[in-house]
Amino acid sequence: MQISTNFNLKEYNTFGITAYAKEFISVETTEELATVLAENKGRKLFILGGGSNMLLTQDIDALVIHINIKGKQITKQQTGYAHVKAMAGENWHEFVLFCIENNLGGLENLSLIPGNVGTTPIQNIGAYGTEIKDTFESCEAMDIETQEIKTFTKEECEFAYRESIFKGRLKDKYIITSVTFRLTTDEHRINTAYGDITDKLIDKGIIVPTIKDVSNAVIAIRQSKLPDPKELGNSGSFFKNPIVPKALFEKIQAEHPLMPYYAVSESQVKVPAGWLIEQSGFKGKRFGDAGVHTKQALVLVNYGNATGKELLELSKKIQETVFEKFGIQIEAEVNII
Ligand code: EPU
Repeated sequence: MQISTNFNLKEYNTFGITAYAKEFISVETTEELATVLAENKGRKLFILGGGSNMLLTQDIDALVIHINIKGKQITKQQTGYAHVKAMAGENWHEFVLFCIENNLGGLENLSLIPGNVGTTPIQNIGAYGTEIKDTFESCEAMDIETQEIKTFTKEECEFAYRESIFKGRLKDKYIITSVTFRLTTDEHRINTAYGDITDKLIDKGIIVPTIKDVSNAVIAIRQSKLPDPKELGNSGSFFKNPIVPKALFEKIQAEHPLMPYYAVSESQVKVPAGWLIEQSGFKGKRFGDAGVHTKQALVLVNYGNATGKELLELSKKIQETVFEKFGIQIEAEVNII
């Protein structure tokens, strides 16, 4: 374990933005993490996972602790289900594939999401009709002040759409060190409710899909719409899908009968931000090296040397235009640093 100074984070954020950490250390065990925290009490810290959900708009004047704790194992096996525990630094997609190879069902719809296991509960990652909360059993997290490990149950995590207690009340208080999932070992609950998955499976002539088939379908859909961060810097959906009052939704729908939507409650409707952004004329637009993805307007991309500030400017321009056109305030999903 060694602290580096003035460390370039370009390889540590999927936007591929150059920004410098005043100090940087990578920890590979929970014991190392506890030591670093104990030795740096009272100092400004910045906890870094897979770097897949942040936009660096400036250098980080803090000690950046990169959570690189690896390991995964089946911790409990019962009739019909198993518990699988993964340490925070495991790559998410590799973990999903490990589960599928071991015939453990429940995470297949979340294939190919960038990032590490430890950050998945923070924003309750979700895709194609599944969220982490659907299979989450518990997680362990280290108290930054005391270095004690606390186990959080699903209820204690207070999951909601792209939200949890770790983004809310407990922000900057705990570091997640491992996550345990409860996965099926037979009679898998295949979830193909999301239209694109059904279409992909039909295309391939698959009538009774396995978890591997669903994973392959999700991978194909993601690859067709979402840029690979290794080829084109991005952070997945840049904005959250806004939830709007029904009256406003109906007003917009009267003008745009084809607007896609999902009913949330009697009085609220979720509208795809990607659609709003496309209608506002931004899809595929490029301003220098900062751009809006050609195939999915919810994704901002770095064509090479965009700065975080340029991407932030673009995101603000999008927010203003969407607000002027639709009266809807779209909120960033990524963390702006
Ligand atoms: N749409 C457009 N134009 C666009 C993009 C989308 O009209 O440029 C329309 C689509 O035609 C569709 C609707 O918007 O009718 C929804 O689009 P899509 O299925 O691509 O999903 P999304 O709502 O844009 C959300 C998640 C994604 C997740 C997909 C699939 C959020 C913020 N994003 O996107 O998550 O992969 O659903 O479940 O909820 C992420 O969070 O990083 C992420 C990629």
